[in-house]
Amino acid sequence: MRERFSVDVMRQTMLDFVQMRDFVGDPLVVERGEGVRLWDIEGRSYIDGLSGIFVVNFGHGRREIVDAVTAQVARLAFAPQMATTTPEIDLAEKLLPILPSEYTQVKFHSGGSEATEAAIKMARQFHRQNGQASRFKVLSHYRGYHGATGHALAATGWPHLRAAFEPLAPGFVHLHTPDIYRPLVAGATPEETGLAYARLVAETIALEGPGTVAALITEPIMMSAGVVVPPDSYLRELRRLTAEHGILLIFDEIITGFGRTGVPFAREHSGVLPDLICVGKGMSGGYAPLSAVVLSERVARAFWGEPGTQFQAGHTFAGNPVACAAGLAALDVLMQPETLINCRDVGAHAMGRLRSLMDRHPCIGDVRGRGMFLGVEFVSDRATRTRFPDEVAFGIRVQAEARRRGLLLRASGFMLVVGPPLTTTRAEMDEIIDILDQAVGAAEASLHERALAGVP
Ligand SMILES: Cc1ncc(COP(=O)(O)O)c(C=O)c1O
Repeated sequence: MRERFSVDVMRQTMLDFVQMRDFVGDPLVVERGEGVRLWDIEGRSYIDGLSGIFVVNFGHGRREIVDAVTAQVARLAFAPQMATTTPEIDLAEKLLPILPSEYTQVKFHSGGSEATEAAIKMARQFHRQNGQASRFKVLSHYRGYHGATGHALAATGWPHLRAAFEPLAPGFVHLHTPDIYRPLVAGATPEETGLAYARLVAETIALEGPGTVAALITEPIMMSAGVVVPPDSYLRELRRLTAEHGILLIFDEIITGFGRTGVPFAREHSGVLPDLICVGKGMSGGYAPLSAVVLSERVARAFWGEPGTQFQAGHTFAGNPVACAAGLAALDVLMQPETLINCRDVGAHAMGRLRSLMDRHPCIGDVRGRGMFLGVEFVSDRATRTRFPDEVAFGIRVQAEARRRGLLLRASGFMLVVGPPLTTTRAEMDEIIDILDQAVGAAEASLHERALAGVP
């Protein structure tokens, strides 16, 4: 490692969720990217199997997006707060037509947490302006992730992400994750499982008091829960229940939006029309920080009127013209027919190949997902679907073995997620799966050595 990247220099920065003491011992300093590949400062190449973090949907170094951003930086990099800009107007004008006509307004932000945070605030302000100030509670799932800021983190349902900052904001109630790999009732079909989980949601609403609930926020496919794909019956029941009780339904499509699942927005799979949709990550392809809340007309109407009824929150970089220019160019790439066709075709090929790895690796319990958003769940016993003990951190072992072989993937202790750019070719995907195959084998071997050494 060059002197400039010595331990002393490296410890001057902090990465998200990363223990820097471990990182500086084996740092990854990325310098350049092209298509699906990255190079570090030592010249080693890696396949970006997680699109940065589900952001670089159209690959690194995509010329038309680079050119659009470069031109906008030169023209106007930042606008006064009381002004909008042509890229912001153009992006809303281009984005809304790819959604159903129910959606009529866009509030741009810079990051996913800003978008979920804003959607929750909008829900509360919406009810207040409709004479229902008693509605403040927000329902979300235990294993969901909605961001790192106050309300977004309060909606997040993972104890290990919340613990350091508790107590968090009051008024957040968690629901059980509709996990069909471990159904509530053994042998139930996915649709039956979906309906059973929805009955629990109905009971939660009744017990909390429907008149106190402002919103229910969910990812249509739940990444940090383990790429949990809820049955359509579940999402449709959420829509029915929330509509019946006057609760706003928010879809967090920060990961699933902008083509990740093979269609522009994952809501299309179930046909559900939420009241608000949060988007981010792949929205700019990673060429600038960009996110948004898309409002249905019903919600938008509550913010149009007398002074004081406007949305009462904001962020300095919201609607930044450079970010919107990146979003415009990225949207053009998304809407080229070959982008989504490739995502569906190569995604289906990857799903088939990942499932066939189950023949060789008994530790793969399940493979699931949609498009180029694929999760692999690891188990110590496939028949009982028992997970490895936390301390084994099997997914993290596979991730480390993959990185050693030049492949970067998203992992947690029990899961591994494959999410390369939507433009990944079939040959590149085969390379990803071949490396993954070896990495899983190496992780299995490391467990075997651990057992021989007598570690329980
Ligand atoms: C589903 C979901 N929502 C919200 C967020 C927060 O986005 P950001 O990290 O851009 O603030 C994330 C980030 O990973 C996410 O996965």
